Amino acid sequence: AIERTLSILKPDATRRNLTGKINARFEDAGLRIVAQKRMQLSQAQAEKFYDVHRERPFFGDLVSFMISGPVVVQVLEGENAVAKNREIMGATNPANAAPGTIRKDFAESIEANSVHGSDSLENAAREVAFFFAESEIVG
Ligand code: CMP
Repeated sequence: AIERTLSILKPDATRRNLTGKINARFEDAGLRIVAQKRMQLSQAQAEKFYDVHRERPFFGDLVSFMISGPVVVQVLEGENAVAKNREIMGATNPANAAPGTIRKDFAESIEANSVHGSDSLENAAREVAFFFAESEIVG
């Protein structure tokens, strides 16, 4: 089925001017960028977005990192978009990421891992709505 998923290009990616190179990975794989904006997250926004990780030991560092520079938030649309994006990104830890994936090729560490992608269709709907009004998504 045609799905939408929320993608974030993280501060390590914007810092190294990798927006275009990473977007090409999505487009070359057949995903369409149907909404996109560059923004500086506030601490409150980052904490709310990652609320599910609040009790994890890495939560504080994760939030600090995500507000350390601009991010690009985007909605990717296409056949099986949630799973397809996770394939294109590769494993969370770049040390475990398969060759040819974004994280293998670009990520600096498990924290500075260049991209975020929704992990389920249900979370995708929640995460897309966190950043975008329906009117901002143009399919
Ligand atoms: P993301 O998909 O954005 O969701 C939560 C993020 O926490 C994850 O990617 C990682 O970048 C980050 N993170 C930092 N440390 C860890 C860790 N030990 N285990 C899992 N995720 C981590």
